[in-house]
Amino acid sequence: MAKAINSKPETAVIVIPTYNEAENIGRMIEYLCTKTFPSLDKKWQMKILVVDGNSPDGTGKVVEKMAKKYKDVYLYTETSKDGIGAAYLKGFKYAMDKLKADYVFEFDGDFQHPPETIPLMLQAMDEGYDYVIGSRKIKGGSNPKGWGFKRVFFSEVGGFTARFLMFFPFKNFFKVTDPTTGLKVTRVKGFIDKMDMDYSRHLITKSFGYKLQLLYETLKMGAKFKEIPLEFHVRNAGESKIESKTAKDIFLVAFKMRWRDEFTQKFLKFAVVGGIGFLVNIIGGRIFKNLLTPRIVSVSTVNGLANALAAELSIISNFTWNNLWTFSKEKITGSSILGKFLTFNASSLVTGILIPSLIIALLTNLFGDHFLIYQIIAIFLLTIPLNWLVYNKIIWRKK
Ligand code: GDD
Ligand code: MN
Repeated sequence: MAKAINSKPETAVIVIPTYNEAENIGRMIEYLCTKTFPSLDKKWQMKILVVDGNSPDGTGKVVEKMAKKYKDVYLYTETSKDGIGAAYLKGFKYAMDKLKADYVFEFDGDFQHPPETIPLMLQAMDEGYDYVIGSRKIKGGSNPKGWGFKRVFFSEVGGFTARFLMFFPFKNFFKVTDPTTGLKVTRVKGFIDKMDMDYSRHLITKSFGYKLQLLYETLKMGAKFKEIPLEFHVRNAGESKIESKTAKDIFLVAFKMRWRDEFTQKFLKFAVVGGIGFLVNIIGGRIFKNLLTPRIVSVSTVNGLANALAAELSIISNFTWNNLWTFSKEKITGSSILGKFLTFNASSLVTGILIPSLIIALLTNLFGDHFLIYQIIAIFLLTIPLNWLVYNKIIWRKK
């Protein structure tokens, strides 16, 4: 293993949740303490914290025995089985408060996560990463050889759906290849210590879906993130605790994370306000046409004028609702309203009329007369993105 770059002592706690892992946990602790830890640079103070859901099979007893043999082994016993997510948050809290952890690992007790990945993950932390996760989907990573088509299919579809729901089309969609992985290490300072460890309040689900929530939140905090290959092995002994509701849970958590996000909320409001503006434009046009027709003889003048008035009305509607609702946190008030409103008007002319009209003319010149298609392209690829940009970067720029 490469020599540690920085050699001041640091504590890494391997948190292992267990429920009925009596056949595995003793061997696991033994392996970590005699094979994995001694191979590491001396700067790493390695500790193992088992969070046991009061397993009826005597897992706790095995851990207690091990804790007598190895001084850096700790047992936290829950009153009962409470979900793997809850177990991890209890473990993280204990690791911070009692064990002075600088890093916490999420690690399974059944040998499906190879202990050999631990040194590689620590090395990445040493290089300055904040969050390193094991991926089965990158080169060098794999699922157990024995997995049948159905299991692989669900794992792939579930993983991809979660990835898409949470991150598409942004950079993490491409960077996070295995969002449901259970093998992770997270820097405590700036990340775990900023999280609410009250699991009932914090977690959407205490069960397996927790990992998507923590993934989303840790990345949102700006963690410098890296994936390393994970060869996910077959279970050594005992049974998986994954439940049939897990698939639904994963979908729900991924959706909720995206939905709750401030960016999503803003964008959806922006879209609704835009939709209202469109209706105001159409309905307003009707009304102005009816009002002007008895007063003006030329139909073309009536139509032109009615459209101009209706367009201005929709601009006023867009400005007002975006200001009060979409960008309520950046709300413009008082004397700056007029200036901003004029800028908003000018930008609406540019993004809604000038640029799209020029591009439509250009496209017609290049590819022939497909007016409706060009209009739709112009609205979705020019007007909407440009407005979003101008609103965020100029009109309602964050202070
Ligand atoms: N304390 C506690 N309470 N521990 C639990 C609970 C619980 O409610 N549920 C599971 N565990 C423990 C298990 O005893 C095991 O050590 C570890 O958590 C992982 O549980 P498994 O039951 O082995 O999960 P799995 O192998 O089906 O799922 C693994 O692969 C998934 C990806 O396909 C895990 O690594 C998942 O985290 C991962 O998402
Ligand atoms: Mn397992």
